[in-house]
Amino acid sequence: MMFFKGNVFHTPSYGELVYLEDALIEVDSQGIIQEVYVSADEMYAIKLQEAKVCDSFIELKEGQYFLPGFVDLHVHAPQWPQAGIALDEPLNQWLDECTFPLEAKYEDVAFAEYVYDNLVENLLARGTTTALYFATVHLQASLTLASICATKGQRGLVGKVVMDHPEMNPTFYRDESTKAALADTEEFIIAVKELAKEVPQGVYPVVTPRFVPSCTDEGLRGLGELTHKYQVHVQSHCSEGQWEHDHVKERFGKTDTEVLRDFGLLTEKSIMAHCNFIDEKDGAIFAETGTAVAHCPISNAYFANGVIPIKRLKNQGVEIGLGTDISGGFSPSLWDNIKQAVMSSRMLEDGVDVTMQQESRGVSDSRISVVEAFSLATQGGGEALNLPIGVIKKGYVCDLQVLDMNAVGASLSGFGVFTTPKEQLQKLLYLATPTNIKQVWVQGKLVHEKA
Ligand code: GUN
Ligand code: FE
Repeated sequence: MMFFKGNVFHTPSYGELVYLEDALIEVDSQGIIQEVYVSADEMYAIKLQEAKVCDSFIELKEGQYFLPGFVDLHVHAPQWPQAGIALDEPLNQWLDECTFPLEAKYEDVAFAEYVYDNLVENLLARGTTTALYFATVHLQASLTLASICATKGQRGLVGKVVMDHPEMNPTFYRDESTKAALADTEEFIIAVKELAKEVPQGVYPVVTPRFVPSCTDEGLRGLGELTHKYQVHVQSHCSEGQWEHDHVKERFGKTDTEVLRDFGLLTEKSIMAHCNFIDEKDGAIFAETGTAVAHCPISNAYFANGVIPIKRLKNQGVEIGLGTDISGGFSPSLWDNIKQAVMSSRMLEDGVDVTMQQESRGVSDSRISVVEAFSLATQGGGEALNLPIGVIKKGYVCDLQVLDMNAVGASLSGFGVFTTPKEQLQKLLYLATPTNIKQVWVQGKLVHEKA
């Protein structure tokens, strides 16, 4: 057994903030939370005695807090070198001119190792304990990413990207053929499942059609079959921007959502990035199939051509989590995306064009709170992936970040004026930087400690 003692913030359900003062978290040798005790509990004093003599007892100081590790539902690992660069063009031009030439370099496994090693460390240092990754079309480099997650202690869900459409992808960067794309995907699934046997925190293969435009009908059908054969997660992009939305409608006479569903790609374990243009009918399909939205608010400010109505989709029963979308989103931090999710929702509600009448400028009842955005980054991500993560309670995996409001050079003081737990959390969510992240734990194992 191991024990963690300190103040806890988490949201057991969407937007429901729970603060536990000086909680005692009991964790078994598999890294699963056995129980969370608070001082009013009968067993608290007895367990505290047990904790003080056990091998591993982590006790927080004044101004420090346990938060659940973050779940990043959408990362393009190969685009990490490009973060912050080339954000001035529309999506399809950005893909062709900047992104595909970069992703093509991962044919070189040494380059992949060089970048992926650095990326996983950077994500862990920002509290991201679980990440859902797009790798590239290359089988070997995609396996390298899975191994690096495994070694560094991050829970990684990784997809070998499929781009098999001969006319929609450049010759220098695509699958050799549909047959090769499907065979490589199957080999990838089998290899990652084998690797997973030795990885306590889990590493998972993910079926990954890049997006409908980059795949043939036959490719999409084959990926749907692999999904069901191996019962694995699925990820793609769905109705991200106007171009994608219109292109798919023109090709199939159906929405992106309907196409993905009809190829068998929407399941309980499917996560679709962006989804800015999904209408109420599409939203109902998401809710019905258990498909989740990976909301990527920073990226959306550049490439989406609109703001996703998170509140409407939530009310429709759609599962939603947060994604950085590196490098469509410049930031590797879900802390940054929490803030942007709030700000974008406020702009949707108020509207942006001041030459219009105030009453018709925005979409009423669209805002989300910062606590709701915190839920998206934690509990929402766990729900999306169908994994027991993102909440600090019995039966969940012990993935924690330790936040320190008194970090040297990054004090987040409320100056004695703002001292309630909720105010402390708000200060953290808006102002914390990696300097305030003292430790990160995955499955009960320390994976990052600030120097
Ligand atoms: N759609 C297809 N590929 C991509 C990508 O790499 N990034 C984003 N944001 N959208 C995409
Ligand atoms: Fe993306």
